[in-house]
Amino acid sequence: MNVIILAAGKGKRMNSVLPKVLQKLANKPMLEWVLDAAEGVSEAGEPVVVIGHGAEKVKEYFDGRPVKYALQLEQKGTAHAVAQALPLLENKEPVLVLYGDGPLITTETLRNFATLTGNEVGLLTMDLENPTGYGRILRNKAGDVVGIVEEKDATDEQKTIKEVNTGIVIIPGDKLAEWLAKVGCNNAQGEYYLTDLIGLAAAEGQKIQTLKLDDHWEAEGANDKSQLHNLERALQRKLANRLLEQGVGLADAERIDIRGELTCGKDVFIDVGCVFEGKVVLEDNVKIGPYCVIKEAVIGKDTTVEAFTHIDHASVATNNKIGPFARLRPGTNLSDDVHIGNFVEIKKSNVGTGSKVNHLSYIGDTDMGSKVNIGAGTITCNYDGVNKFRTVIEDDCFIGSDTQLVAPVRVGKHSTVGAGTTVTKDVPEDCLVVRRAKTITIEGWPRPTKKS
Ligand code: UD1
Ligand code: CA
Repeated sequence: MNVIILAAGKGKRMNSVLPKVLQKLANKPMLEWVLDAAEGVSEAGEPVVVIGHGAEKVKEYFDGRPVKYALQLEQKGTAHAVAQALPLLENKEPVLVLYGDGPLITTETLRNFATLTGNEVGLLTMDLENPTGYGRILRNKAGDVVGIVEEKDATDEQKTIKEVNTGIVIIPGDKLAEWLAKVGCNNAQGEYYLTDLIGLAAAEGQKIQTLKLDDHWEAEGANDKSQLHNLERALQRKLANRLLEQGVGLADAERIDIRGELTCGKDVFIDVGCVFEGKVVLEDNVKIGPYCVIKEAVIGKDTTVEAFTHIDHASVATNNKIGPFARLRPGTNLSDDVHIGNFVEIKKSNVGTGSKVNHLSYIGDTDMGSKVNIGAGTITCNYDGVNKFRTVIEDDCFIGSDTQLVAPVRVGKHSTVGAGTTVTKDVPEDCLVVRRAKTITIEGWPRPTKKS
């Protein structure tokens, strides 16, 4: 099967420097959604994308992806757009036409559509309560499709037809060029309509297969930010429903955003306002509190992540307690039974089994053993303004509150660092280090008073 994706439109109403098809849905350009959906269908080669406005930006974005481009300098209609792609088709297999600004079409629908159509003409339609703006499907008494009439060319009677053209069609590859050559532009918009092919095919006595969409969102496009927002909400609701069907608990299916691939185990619960980006795995019995942002991460089973926690490119093993207000930055690996509390930032660090960093700390470029306790306000000073250095805290250490560990530095196992100490040299095993300035007490000291 050949695939042609029409994507030459400017999308003026998006009010953006980006061409329309690069506008994002769930953090992925609309055209990428369509390319991904098409990829699952065609055993054929590369899809041909018809570009015009912002052509360079589109090519740049998809650099490296197997896609062929046809340039349509002037937008003279959908048939004209398809004609630009013709020279790039390498065989006479059926041609599936898709739209770069219709991102919610699914691989499943396209597969069913292609199977139903075979080598005939295929038309994907839908019934709409309010069909305004769409091409209407014309059928004869026997119920066979005889043509499509555009809104602007339709009679009042035709406008009452509720079955509309989604725009997605399959045309036999050995007929496409011949029929395109017959399309004129004698219509209300002075455009070359791809929809005229249906009338031409029917007039030749060709059977037109139709598949009716159940979910109209699959064929909705976005011309402005408001429509894009509607698509986003429809998509997110669908993704949330899928989670619910899988047995994931959601506090509110309307208040979760998935911008990537979220995989959940059994008995996962997600509270309101959470955003998941990239590939995220939540294993069995993971609980996510409200307003967490989790990106490219694996959260091990029985772990609880409390409210307002950010996790980015990190891995968390089983039975951890994280947050509220914790931040795990890239390169963080937490072993089992770890506790990370409020206002704790961890970066490029390994934290061993059963260790705790419960309050107000920065742990960066650190290798921490197991059963370590880090007191409130502990800072690893990993940066001298030019280079980064690592801190090693071995098993069973107790780091007192308000401690600075100036890297590179190592604290040997089972050692204690007293509160308020700045550690600049390695600490051996099994000892206490403490740096205390002498406390001065002046009895009866008069506080300063304002001069009169
Ligand atoms: C088209 C269909 C209409 C259908 C509707 C569904 C035609 C003539 N009409 O109408 O029956 O109900 O889609 O949404 O096909 N494009 C180009 N080059 C062009 C013209 C269009 O690349 O010269 C692209 C646009 O960027 C857009 C798509 O094709 O992505 C559809 O074009 P548009 O002008 O929006 O068609 P409609 O009037 O909506
Ligand atoms: Ca349209």
